[in-house]
Amino acid sequence: MLRRLHHEQPESFAFTPANLAWAEAQITKYPEGRQASAVIPLLWRAQEQEGWLTRPAIEAVADMLGMAYMRVVEVASFYFMFQLQPVGTVAHIQVCGTTSCMICGAEDLIGVCRDKIAGKAHELSADGKFSWEEVECLGACANAPMAQIGKDYYEDLTAERLSEIIDELAAGKVPVPGPQNGRFASEPKSGLTSLKEYESGHTKYNASAQLATDIGDTVKRIDGTEVPLLAPWQNAEDKTAPAASTSLKEPQPAANKAVDETGIDKREAEAQAKAKPEASAKTGDAATTEAPAPSQDAPTAGTVEGVRPQALDGPRNGQADDLKQIKGVGPKLEKLCNTLGFYHFDQIAGWSDAEVAWVDENLEGFKGRVTRDEWVSQARILADGGETEFSSRVKKGGDGET
Ligand code: FES
Repeated sequence: MLRRLHHEQPESFAFTPANLAWAEAQITKYPEGRQASAVIPLLWRAQEQEGWLTRPAIEAVADMLGMAYMRVVEVASFYFMFQLQPVGTVAHIQVCGTTSCMICGAEDLIGVCRDKIAGKAHELSADGKFSWEEVECLGACANAPMAQIGKDYYEDLTAERLSEIIDELAAGKVPVPGPQNGRFASEPKSGLTSLKEYESGHTKYNASAQLATDIGDTVKRIDGTEVPLLAPWQNAEDKTAPAASTSLKEPQPAANKAVDETGIDKREAEAQAKAKPEASAKTGDAATTEAPAPSQDAPTAGTVEGVRPQALDGPRNGQADDLKQIKGVGPKLEKLCNTLGFYHFDQIAGWSDAEVAWVDENLEGFKGRVTRDEWVSQARILADGGETEFSSRVKKGGDGET
């Protein structure tokens, strides 16, 4: 199936304040310079908020993570869990059509969706409340046939029960998820035959259905207020982290420790192994273990040595240029530039290759953006009072970087 952005898109996207706090907390899970690893959770939360993934949402996530828009579109279009077209305002029903479900009646469930919602998958129902699609195994084969509706699984379905569920949802109710034939979980329908002492009954429904019922988030558009924001990793003291030598954090190898079996720091370890004989040869000293481990981002042969450009303590005459007129610079990058002492187009316009290399290295979370987005050539035009196609769009209130 060809997956591309929908032809009709909303004007803008913004996370709700609680979702934004959640998204920003997720980003801190990952090491400095690896923020792009948060792309899937952030896209997922954007979809949970809006129902589907809009282009403005994809761009907003890209900006938050310092990624090119296209890289994020690639992720969104690769994973079928991301909906690239509007879904029903009440529910999008995902019917499993894989083997277990198929032989237990998935085709009948799909027939219900065709009759009650729309003839084709991904089409909206006439009232816009529902949409459906057939998906691959959702891992609940012991409760086949099943469908995922919103966040939850409805299992042990029959065509009649799915039809009722759709009617209930249309009437504003949210049927209890989980098995729909009286089973608690995936035990035999006739009851447990062994391990009876473990028979559940601690809660009315099985754990996932109980949680869904307690939170009430099954088909809800998630605004982030449903559960408290938990980010325990932010409080965990990292005793292995090397002390920051400058205020600018750089990605660091794991405190000069030997790599473990996971090979996570393999590149750094290899670099150290190569560096040690050279250092020994230069100093004639075999005890060179104190030599600093080369930074992962240290310039390699052939790269330009960075030189810090001249910085200002503040904008001249108290008036900074709107650096967001440079394509690739959003509010976060502008703030970061200001923090580094760069406020004006003419400052950026005058950067040498060495200065570009330094700034590229020190844009925490946005490394390489100066070169990638050709800031200097853009800044030269803007510093001379000219306009770029992008800056004129920004001035008209168009789609600047966010
Ligand atoms: S085959 Fe349907 S959930 Fe696995």
